[in-house]
Amino acid sequence: MDVTNSAVWFTVSFVLIAAIAIKIAKGRTMLGSRCTMPTPPVVDGISLIRLLHLLLTKGLRAMIHDQHKSMGSVFTVSFFGIKLTFLVGPEILSHFYQGAESEISHGNMLDFMVPMFGKEVGYGVDFTTRYEQIRFYSDALARPSKLRVHVDPMLEEVEDYFAKWGQDGIIDLKHELGLLLMLISSRCLLGKEVRDKMFDEIHTLFHELDNGMHISSVLFPYAPTPVNRRRDRAHSKLSEIFAEIVRSRRSSNQVEKKDVLQNLIDSKYKDGRSTTEREVIGMIMLLLFGGKHNSTVAGTWTGAHLLNCARSVAAVVEEQKQLVRKYGNHVDYNVLLEMDTLHCSIKEALRMHPPAAIFFRKVHKNFTVQTKEGHEYEIPRGHTIASPILFNSNLPHIYKDPDVYDPSRFGRERQEDKIGGKFAYAAFSCGRHTCVGEAYTYMQIKVVWSYLLRNFELKLISPFPETDWGKLVPEPKGKVMVGYKRRQLPIT
Ligand code: HEM
Repeated sequence: MDVTNSAVWFTVSFVLIAAIAIKIAKGRTMLGSRCTMPTPPVVDGISLIRLLHLLLTKGLRAMIHDQHKSMGSVFTVSFFGIKLTFLVGPEILSHFYQGAESEISHGNMLDFMVPMFGKEVGYGVDFTTRYEQIRFYSDALARPSKLRVHVDPMLEEVEDYFAKWGQDGIIDLKHELGLLLMLISSRCLLGKEVRDKMFDEIHTLFHELDNGMHISSVLFPYAPTPVNRRRDRAHSKLSEIFAEIVRSRRSSNQVEKKDVLQNLIDSKYKDGRSTTEREVIGMIMLLLFGGKHNSTVAGTWTGAHLLNCARSVAAVVEEQKQLVRKYGNHVDYNVLLEMDTLHCSIKEALRMHPPAAIFFRKVHKNFTVQTKEGHEYEIPRGHTIASPILFNSNLPHIYKDPDVYDPSRFGRERQEDKIGGKFAYAAFSCGRHTCVGEAYTYMQIKVVWSYLLRNFELKLISPFPETDWGKLVPEPKGKVMVGYKRRQLPIT
């Protein structure tokens, strides 16, 4: 590891450790519920220094690998009176993902989102209201009937966007996909009139809202810092813009009710109450953020891996050729569903680069886990538990040669994730908190990449990107330069 990497790791790790410590300390509940079974082995004293040294010099994966080898699948890191219990491997995650909210929850770990999206949604409201809002997102986004509606607008955006590229040239893939996915999100979530009239303004303000993901804002979401002030200004300006749109939709009877915004306006809670203006504003901001941010990172990693691996890119191009032979240039929802190889390529990029490296939960009631080696432990109330996604998605007993980009591991013959068990693949989380945007994400990235593969010859010009660990959602570091040349896909 070179000096720059070490310095980056040191800074990131230090900030993350401080962030976790402060967050956990702030939301600490009383420890000491009586345990009737053995509690997990504890890393403290000298072994804690060793753990920190490994984390700072070799990174998160190496640190967990080392602890996993010496302590087993369940261990507690004890520091400043805080108990952080790691659950390693998918075999012991059932309660983590499926436990009742009263027994295990996010605690206060995601409070930083409240000033980003408002106190009327997400982690600003009680969990009953939040679950109802998740149902609204899901109704608007996850059903096949709703997904189908978005294909034509997505295709239109993609065609218009790439029509502006020349005959050949060099672009920064990360920048291009960021812009295109914001256009797609604005169109499908907010509707055509907003996308046409206000895209530039909304795009700029969303960039500012991004400040809420800055590590200092995650740590101190209400401190009077310049980043927080920029985030708050963007939030309040976006709220004004969206409030006007919602009011005008509510007063008009001639609305094209196809976009997600309209679905949220029309949603009703179980007691018959309609969504309020502030709730609709918060929900749409949250969706726009999810729609654009994670998908840009996933689309860029997918592209970087495909263009870096001749075998993988040949496989996705061959799939496109077969589909063109079958359907000509026509693409619809069913054709997108047939793009299995492309689907696996996106899934594999997300396995290697999950947007959240670790999930955390707070334990409100003791529970037990049994490791695959047969050890049983009781995890006491008050512990924070951590599932290291980045490590779990690279376990060699589940994923063969985990460091190799190999989309075929998810193909029908191998299905490594299915064989690995219910929680072996968790890029979109699992159980109670599964991402409602998963199907939408695959759809939009497939629309973009199938168009690129059919219409351009592409070449990765910059070296394969490193990961920028300085971001809350680790993304490809720096620019990802790609050369392009227009072509007609040869289908014979
Ligand atoms: C690569 C793309 C994406 C990834 C990897 C991803 C990942 C995740 C994960 C891990 C969670 C659960 C977090 C937790 O446990 O608290 C989540 C929740 C969620 N995601 Fe996504 N997501 C993606 C794209 C999207 C898109 C495109 C949308 C919407 C357009 C979306 C909307 C949501 C919503 C509404 C939630 C629930 C938030 C809540 O609990 O209030 N996501 N996502």
